[in-house]
Amino acid sequence: ATERTLSIIKPDATRRNLTGKINAKFEEAGLRIVAQKRIHLSEAQAGKFYEVHKDRPFYGELVEFMASEPVVVQVLEGEGAIAKNREVMGATNPANADEGTIRKEFALSMGENSVHGSDAPETAAQEIAYFFSGLELVG
Ligand code: CMP
Repeated sequence: ATERTLSIIKPDATRRNLTGKINAKFEEAGLRIVAQKRIHLSEAQAGKFYEVHKDRPFYGELVEFMASEPVVVQVLEGEGAIAKNREVMGATNPANADEGTIRKEFALSMGENSVHGSDAPETAAQEIAYFFSGLELVG
């Protein structure tokens, strides 16, 4: 089925001017960017987005990193978009990411791993609604 998923191009990637190269990977995989904006998250906003990880040891560092510099938040649409995006991103830890994936090519570390993507339909719906109104989604 056609799905939508929330993607974030993280500060390590926006800082290195990799937005275009990362978007090319999405588009080459058949994902359509139906909404996109560059924003600078506050620590409170980043903390709320990653609330599910609040008891993990890396939470503080994750929130600080995500609020350190601008990010690009986007909605990707396509057939099986959630799984497809995860394939294109590669494993969370770039050391385990397959050849040709975004994280293999661009990620610096487990924390500075260039992109975030929703992991399931319910989280995709929640995460999209966190950043975008219905009027901003142009399919
Ligand atoms: P992301 O998909 O954005 O979701 C949570 C993020 O936490 C993850 O990508 C990683 O960048 C970051 N992170 C940092 N350390 C870890 C860790 N040890 N395990 C999992 N995620 C981590």
